[in-house]
Amino acid sequence: MPQTTLLELDRQHLIHPVTNFRAHEKRGATILQSGHGAYLRDADGRELLDAFSGLWCVNTGYGQESIVQAAAEQMRILPYATGYFSYGSEPAIRLAARLVELAPASLRHVYFTLGGSDAVDAAVRYITYYYNAIGQPQRTEYISLQRGYHGSSSVGAGLTALPVFQRHFNLPLPTQHYISSPYPYRNPLGNDPQALIAASVAELRAKVAGLGADRVAAFFCEPIQGSGGVIVPPRGWLKAMADACRELGILFVVDEVITGFGRTGPLFACADEGVEPDMMTMAKGLTAGYAPMGALMMSEALYQAIAEGAGPDIAVGHGQTYSAHPVSAAIGLEVLRLYHEGGLLANGAARAPQFEQGLRDLLAHPLVGDARSRGLLGALELVADKDSKRQFDPALRLHERIAQAAYEQKLVFRAFGDNILGFAPALCYTEAEFELLFGRLRATLDQVLAQPEVARALS
Ligand SMILES: Cc1ncc(COP(=O)(O)O)c(C=O)c1O
Repeated sequence: MPQTTLLELDRQHLIHPVTNFRAHEKRGATILQSGHGAYLRDADGRELLDAFSGLWCVNTGYGQESIVQAAAEQMRILPYATGYFSYGSEPAIRLAARLVELAPASLRHVYFTLGGSDAVDAAVRYITYYYNAIGQPQRTEYISLQRGYHGSSSVGAGLTALPVFQRHFNLPLPTQHYISSPYPYRNPLGNDPQALIAASVAELRAKVAGLGADRVAAFFCEPIQGSGGVIVPPRGWLKAMADACRELGILFVVDEVITGFGRTGPLFACADEGVEPDMMTMAKGLTAGYAPMGALMMSEALYQAIAEGAGPDIAVGHGQTYSAHPVSAAIGLEVLRLYHEGGLLANGAARAPQFEQGLRDLLAHPLVGDARSRGLLGALELVADKDSKRQFDPALRLHERIAQAAYEQKLVFRAFGDNILGFAPALCYTEAEFELLFGRLRATLDQVLAQPEVARALS
């Protein structure tokens, strides 16, 4: 079909996620046609270096033939198997068992979803069931982090603390509460990691006390806040929050939808600090975006309490037609093989210092106020004044200028509305591809800086 027709049909019929409808109608879609390794090709034949792994998910890179083979073979053998009525399929069972082997030791049971939002939704539903089952139905309050992202389900978008997911959606719910983001760059306490960790723990304790210690169900967090602007807390923060939750007697739920599957170095960010959560949500890198799948993992204690609460013959009523989809599961098994035996985790870890250094080097650029990363998850924060950390006037639409320039420089990353640039290159990136990334990124920043309105906005 000609591209002009596609663009017109897109405008008329396709609703894009988290997009201003009117702005999209004006701008039109950038249609992607193919991908190979770290590169995407658009409908105009422009080859783009993808420094965002699609949407922080294609951790393996594009065009991994063994994944395509695994999917095709499973489709041929059995394209669908329900998990209802106690049916199952080999790939789903094997993937669940493999995840239990690889995840923190506390997590023993897996419920498969279609992505991250419904994994978070499943977490909330099972937590609710759990507290009813153990005779504590009054534990209805949830705490999460400002700037946190936990998807856009009807309940999860209230754990998400980003305004556009709540405006006009009647969120947050009265049962959803927030504490400050552990944001070192904009921490009023300065850059002392221990002070920041202590402040987060103290705020959690105060919030729980304020709500009533016996009324709080759980604390949800990402090990590194992704969609909130790649906010990297100090090492030790996650463990301190896990320990505080344990002491406070509330559930600790880690959302590893972005940080999982080698994004920060180890398979899960929890492993870095020996954190053993009560629940963990995951998606994205689980299938590297080759097919939709997410998962919720839970502890033995939660599983057993839910099982007992149901009694001998009443079903636990949570399910989806495509839970534990065999094709997605077969893909997941092959993707896990690539991370380990295929050397992708090792390559990601080996290349992380080059990535970190490349971001740090850009601190010298007039637009860049902060550079932060862990593993292959990183960000630059652009500011109008480096000393005061003053942000650019939103009227400048700097993030749109950056996104446009990046596209012209044939580079894909995420330019957030508050002028934080997010990066999540695939774990298959070579040394030369990182050099290319930073060459194009510098050219992008220079191109935008050369615009008189931008230069004038700097102080
Ligand atoms: C931490 C986190 N949780 C949940 C989600 C939602 O996942 P999905 O978009 O697959 O529904 C995301 C998506 O970016 C995420 O980053």
